[in-house]
Amino acid sequence: MTGPAGLPRAAPDANPPAMSRPVLIAPSILSADFARLGAEVASIDAAGADWIHCDVMDGHFVPNISFGPDVLKAIRPHSTKFFDVHLMIQPVDPFIEAFARAGADLISFHVEAGPHAHRTLRLIRSLGKKSGIVLTPQTPASAVEHLLDEADLVLVMTVNPGFGGQSFIREMMPKVEQLRAMIGGRPIDLEIDGGVTPETAPLCIKAGANVLVAGSAAFRGGEGAYASNIAAIRKAAAGARGEWV
Ligand code: DX5
Ligand code: ZN
Repeated sequence: MTGPAGLPRAAPDANPPAMSRPVLIAPSILSADFARLGAEVASIDAAGADWIHCDVMDGHFVPNISFGPDVLKAIRPHSTKFFDVHLMIQPVDPFIEAFARAGADLISFHVEAGPHAHRTLRLIRSLGKKSGIVLTPQTPASAVEHLLDEADLVLVMTVNPGFGGQSFIREMMPKVEQLRAMIGGRPIDLEIDGGVTPETAPLCIKAGANVLVAGSAAFRGGEGAYASNIAAIRKAAAGARGEWV
């Protein structure tokens, strides 16, 4: 019996693999106050963030510029949490080592950014970091099918990359389901980025994702609201799995 991409399909009574991976909330510091970024990282950590999501934009691959490895290095001492670094840059390879040295725990990059994603995934792992591959909305799941054995994470963009605060593209959910099936039993996190809120988080979880990036929904309302913002997303996600938090 085979499923999507010719992979063996799980028996109907087996636990979907996604269920065994914990739900993680990864606030994106793109929505933080850049004038006090170190303090913002510490605050979002204390508010219950599982991962710190760092959006790197180059004004070439995406139509916006954010920050580079020196800023990552500067904020790194402000949290001991896992730093999830999302590169929206082209080319990718010349900058991997700088982000690894600056303190990234995981480095993800776009499959659309070049023809040698397999090499880049291996480069990231060779530096002792987790590797991630990202798909923009236009890119089909099949684009990463032959890269999965080199990846620790697959990130599905549910907005067009470049800006925080955009609306969730719900039409990406079938792609998430396809990727979940394609990943099968591999130890790969499936992450969603863009427009994640307590309203859209359950859709992501039901489609098979387990890591949720949230920029504006995590940072809205100022520092006093961060903990309740994260808790609301976590509760909505857990509810979609039939769990309580
Ligand atoms: C968009 C970035 C996202 C962004 C998410 O290009 O990759 O991580 O910060 O922001 P929200 O959650 O506001 O859509
Ligand atoms: Zn991102």
